[in-house]
Amino acid sequence: MLAGKRILLIIGGGIAAYKSLELIRLYQKAGASVVPVLTRAAEQFVTPLSASALAGEKVYRDLFDLTDEAEMGHIELSRAADLVVVAPATADLMAKMAGGLANDLASTLLMATDKRVLIAPAMNVRMWDHAATRRNLATLLSDGVLTVGPDEGDMACGEFGFGRMAEPPAIVAATEAAFGGEALSGPLSGRHVLVTSGPTHEPIDPVRYIANRSSGAQGSAIGGALARLGARVSFVTGPTAIAPPHGVEVIAVETAAEMLAAVEGALPADAAVFAAAVADWRVLRESTSKVKKAPGEGPPPLELAENPDILASVARRNETRPTLVVGFAAETDDVIANATAKRARKGCDWILANDVSPGTGIMGGSENAVTLITEAGAESWPRMGKVAVAERLAARIAAALGEVAA
Ligand code: C5P
Repeated sequence: MLAGKRILLIIGGGIAAYKSLELIRLYQKAGASVVPVLTRAAEQFVTPLSASALAGEKVYRDLFDLTDEAEMGHIELSRAADLVVVAPATADLMAKMAGGLANDLASTLLMATDKRVLIAPAMNVRMWDHAATRRNLATLLSDGVLTVGPDEGDMACGEFGFGRMAEPPAIVAATEAAFGGEALSGPLSGRHVLVTSGPTHEPIDPVRYIANRSSGAQGSAIGGALARLGARVSFVTGPTAIAPPHGVEVIAVETAAEMLAAVEGALPADAAVFAAAVADWRVLRESTSKVKKAPGEGPPPLELAENPDILASVARRNETRPTLVVGFAAETDDVIANATAKRARKGCDWILANDVSPGTGIMGGSENAVTLITEAGAESWPRMGKVAVAERLAARIAAALGEVAA
């Protein structure tokens, strides 16, 4: 799939840069040609000579190099490739990309290109979890940037966690997927996962509705993380302001009733994650015309009816029950006790409990602090970015489904 393709490989300044030399070799083995671009910081980790020798191409390093500009201007360089790959994508490079900075050759090429961009982030776990990186990643994903990794593991700095650059073969697989447009290959390849996300809107009349403060950020991050592990994701989402993740099938709904129908239509699935904040009640008699104020009559009474519990109805299915059913419990008091009881009441396998008390800043924020409740007990995860929570959950789902298959 990569034969004859031309890849502009931007190497950022991180310790993982040494793996990019291996990446050049693998691209070439697959029949692609690679034009390397090194940032100033990258040159501290790999030499331009190594990159050039392996690629068999000139290495580009400087925005203001007169010879380079005369031979091939940076605009042309950014467009001559079929795909731009950034590996390692450092926190700094991601920030520049998200902010639209163009103050060196790499960032200028990334702004000027008309091609798709795939990034392989690599950084210390704290930097990956930092709110700024979370924001930048969310921006890049909604800009259509493709990502691969990072992986969880030991880091060069001695810490452990997410932030290791994806291994070169995984980056090659993601590059092939970028050309092929199909799902990335990974531990969830061949699996179908259903995700609900966002709030629901329950109409009062044609202009008014009942809703809640869910932003859809956590559900969206989960959909994206599952897709990056290779799953086919049916992403059923209520109305949100954020873009849906890439690589998922989006089924947009408004009400709880529509969400239930969409979920039932998407089954069977190997796993289902119910991250939507479904309204508990809908208006019993929705008005087909706008309810008017009438002098002296006071506010109209709103009679409510209970919405179907989508999670519970799927978890209690005999046929087409997904192997793994995961729910959320957003609580403000006795979080673990309430969530443990909810797990039993709803019949789901796992519950991710989170404290959404106003002081936590979780509802609508970029971070989450969750406790995973399974049959085995409660496991509290440290507070981290919503993307990191999603990646950890996706990895756990992959491991659990892998065990079932084994
Ligand atoms: O009962 P509660 O709303 O706290 O339960 C939360 C969990 O149940 C979440 O996983 C949510 O997506 C799911 N849910 C649902 N349908 C409802 C209410 C909640 O799927 N009507």
